[in-house]
Amino acid sequence: MARKILVTSALPYANGSIHLGHLVEYIQTDIWVRFQKMRGNEVHYVCADDTHGTPIMLRAQNEGITPEQLIDRVWHEHKADFDGFHVAFDHYGSTNSAETKQYAQDIYRKLRANDLIETKSVEQFYDPVKEMFLPDRFIKGECPKCHAKDQYGDNCEACGATYAPIELINPYSAVSGAQPERRSSEHYFFKLSDARCQEFLSAWTQGTLASQAIPPLQQEAANKMKEWFEAGLSNWDISRDAPYFGFEIPDAPGKFFYVWLDAPVGYMGSFKKLCEKQGLDFDSYWNADAKTELYHFIGKDILYFHSLFWPAMLQFANLRTPTQIFAHGFLTVNGEKMSKSRGTFITAESYLKQGLNPEYLRYYYAAKINGTMEDIDLNLEDFVARVNSDLVGKYINIASRTAGFISKQFNGSVSSYVDALKGNEILFGEFIGAENEIATAYEQRDFGRAIRKIMSLADRANEYVAQQAPWSLAKQEGQEQKLQAVCTMSLNLFRILTLYLKPILPTLAAQVEHFLNIAPLKWSDTDQVLHGTINNYSHLATRIDPKLIAAMVEANMQTMAPAPDSHSQVRHAEAQQHTAESGTQTLPSPQPSPLKGEGANVVAIAPTISIDDFNKIDLRVAKIVNAEHVEGAEKLLKLTLDIGEAQTRTVFAGIKSAYDPATLVGRMTVMVANLAPRKMKFGMSEGMVLAASGEAPGLFILSPDDGAQPGMRVK
Ligand code: 2FM
Ligand code: ZN
Repeated sequence: MARKILVTSALPYANGSIHLGHLVEYIQTDIWVRFQKMRGNEVHYVCADDTHGTPIMLRAQNEGITPEQLIDRVWHEHKADFDGFHVAFDHYGSTNSAETKQYAQDIYRKLRANDLIETKSVEQFYDPVKEMFLPDRFIKGECPKCHAKDQYGDNCEACGATYAPIELINPYSAVSGAQPERRSSEHYFFKLSDARCQEFLSAWTQGTLASQAIPPLQQEAANKMKEWFEAGLSNWDISRDAPYFGFEIPDAPGKFFYVWLDAPVGYMGSFKKLCEKQGLDFDSYWNADAKTELYHFIGKDILYFHSLFWPAMLQFANLRTPTQIFAHGFLTVNGEKMSKSRGTFITAESYLKQGLNPEYLRYYYAAKINGTMEDIDLNLEDFVARVNSDLVGKYINIASRTAGFISKQFNGSVSSYVDALKGNEILFGEFIGAENEIATAYEQRDFGRAIRKIMSLADRANEYVAQQAPWSLAKQEGQEQKLQAVCTMSLNLFRILTLYLKPILPTLAAQVEHFLNIAPLKWSDTDQVLHGTINNYSHLATRIDPKLIAAMVEANMQTMAPAPDSHSQVRHAEAQQHTAESGTQTLPSPQPSPLKGEGANVVAIAPTISIDDFNKIDLRVAKIVNAEHVEGAEKLLKLTLDIGEAQTRTVFAGIKSAYDPATLVGRMTVMVANLAPRKMKFGMSEGMVLAASGEAPGLFILSPDDGAQPGMRVK
């Protein structure tokens, strides 16, 4: 009987772009869902943007728009990225919905009726200028341990220490720059430490309840639970004070649900929308006695919330609990944490923009995913090698070496069942016989194992083609029937491989279905064979050009540069209309908007930024120790700068039109010292020198006042 399954992926925050790290989760969920659908199960896959919280509220304020406008824009961006990678949600919603609000409030009311809510006074930092309590990440100050400046409220990036925000020395609000005050307010708590919760969770997490047919957690996650239990569960703060973008807590004016109370409820809200669209029975998926299955795919960083808070919330609100929680590890790129300065913090959009095939990333991730919480590495060189060798060199190769004969010599007709299989029963049996092993691997989310098996079959098919050598048969008189049978057999094997790969490569599979002139492949179709005629073969996949990968990394580095004129590495402080060296890129000039007051037109001031934004730019006093012309460069001078480091820096600056290099040597100026190094035609540029320019001709590099020393920070 078809299983009824509801599947979710974690809801991404609506204040940032989808990147390749996120996609590890959405792609693996989508593969699993597609596999289940091919099996004939009734599967519903829902997700939504996680739209509430202080960061979203502040970002909208900074952009001068409402939070609703911001989350609407981001929703479309996220949706386009998911569509681009063929992540096929049955519904993609938003936590800022009437449905999510209703369920969040209902759950809260039931928990309160169950005496699982309490209030307590909590002391937090308060920004007196912004008139709001500050989340930890919006407080900065000096690390209490190593005294590094400008560290976040919860941990120090310099020495790795963790601490409470109130321990910071000279704290300041990253929102307004003001010195925060300590203030108390009443917070709402979910009593996770209550004996009923402890008792329920200790059984639930280990899968020992009578209602649990299978353990809900992977072994390593269940072990982690034991550690958390030993440390003791504390009550969980579920409220935040106004101003906050979110849902107000019933009967608690000015208090809002903190993210973890409404975010997972977004799974229900989004599913409710799907039920309305498709006439599904919501209750049979969420009532306490639901017989349907519920799976949450999540990153290991949010295991605590999904394996403790969430099941406890559901249980004590008299709803069903998840069947299983599938936690996965993080993505590293080239063996390291994704990094903006290295260009490995790669957005989904930038991957697609390069014209890279989204299914190649799906394939590579699938090859690395094994159903555990281990991190997976995207090694960019290996990515190119693996896709080119497996997909193009092995899999597609089977069709590209045989299809042409069928269309050209046999008018598209394939051999009869008997002819094609004669003498090949064992090989064909091997392909069909792998079905169970591959299905089990998919079911267990060990996609790497499925792929290893599929590729070993592809090797077998290629051996067959090589042995039969259809290209030689084509040259021999009287071998027509054999040639047709060999090519048909090869395409039958190719058909089965396509079926096995379809959850990973859905659009490629659809192209193959069209080419083979067959109905959409279902899992139960393994033992079918081709008959009748097939369509002409047109090329199905091309090798990845490594240049596209290099360009993608480069593009992600550029997004870090604060100024759009990174070609010249000179920040034209006002005009932003510098033309790139070699004239490849001319940046649009902002419309001049006359300001009242003295004199000339001044271009409009850029949108307001926070002190935190400004502090990201490390400006240093620099001494120009050498300046010279650059052969072949129309606009650039090569500057050697001393900023007090052991080694000097080289910066190519587009100031040739305004300065004779000899007059610059020995001068002091100001540079951006933490700009990602940029490879230019003439060498590496390791920063950017500041210069002013306006509508009128002229370019003016900045100088500090007398006495400033190389390396001093400009703030
Ligand atoms: O960690 C996160 O990305 C949050 N936006 C929550 C996602 S999961 C959920 F429960 F909504
Ligand atoms: Zn420190």
